[in-house]
Amino acid sequence: MSIQKQVRRVTAPDIADRKGREPIVSLTSYHAHTAAIADKYCDFLLVGDSLGMVMHGYESTVPVPLELMIMHGKAVVRGSQRALVVVDMPFGTYEESPSVAFRNAARVMKETDCGAVKLEGGRRMAETIDYLVQRGIPVMAHIGLTPQSINTLGGFKTQGRQREQWAAIETDARAVADAGAFSVVLEAMAEPLAAQITGAVPIPTIGIGASAACDGQILVMEDMLGLSPRVPKFVKEFGKVGRAIDRAIKMYADDVRTRSFPAPENTYDVKD
Ligand code: KIV
Repeated sequence: MSIQKQVRRVTAPDIADRKGREPIVSLTSYHAHTAAIADKYCDFLLVGDSLGMVMHGYESTVPVPLELMIMHGKAVVRGSQRALVVVDMPFGTYEESPSVAFRNAARVMKETDCGAVKLEGGRRMAETIDYLVQRGIPVMAHIGLTPQSINTLGGFKTQGRQREQWAAIETDARAVADAGAFSVVLEAMAEPLAAQITGAVPIPTIGIGASAACDGQILVMEDMLGLSPRVPKFVKEFGKVGRAIDRAIKMYADDVRTRSFPAPENTYDVKD
């Protein structure tokens, strides 16, 4: 038996139980130190494949390799204690077949010690979601705008602009719920559609650019902090961290140039 950890982590079933109750709070997190901060306030942390764009400078999430997700997943699990950690399955690691998806998702779970994985797609992924859940892997689904399909969608666009498209998106939501997903991300859709889906499925909906009608919200942490160079219009910014970093680095550079930094006495002692 292992020694019990002092803090109990939120589990995928805990998130599923929150349907229709207190809104679920979540953010993306890619590193241990931001995970430690967000852990105090979030129900789950998503190691999103958006890290490819936010941290590694890719133009889309398509090039992100599994190894990168595992590396960042480990960091977020190490940095957090309480929040459920969900790791995104990157493009090309789960679409081919349920057994390929299982092999890669099991690797993510074993190597990162995360509590769940997320994958993109509605009806087309239902068989795979069922396969994974039956074999012990909790799955968060992701429908609406699915960024890994950027090359077929033709851009990052709001989904369900025409009312005739709503039924197909709702069918996707029902399909992932029936397949056993414990929650579903709704990305980039208008409030009436998000509200309709939230009312139609028995699992929590987590909106991103999908209004407060969902059971919870997720944002890319760097976007809400004001750190990302390009922020989607729907994002409410709660900080100006990019500006603060710019100011601090400028002051640091001035300090070095004017030799005004402290003398090396006990410099490696940690500040209180
Ligand atoms: O990769 C990501 O950060 C995501 C969120 C935007 C939901 O999938």
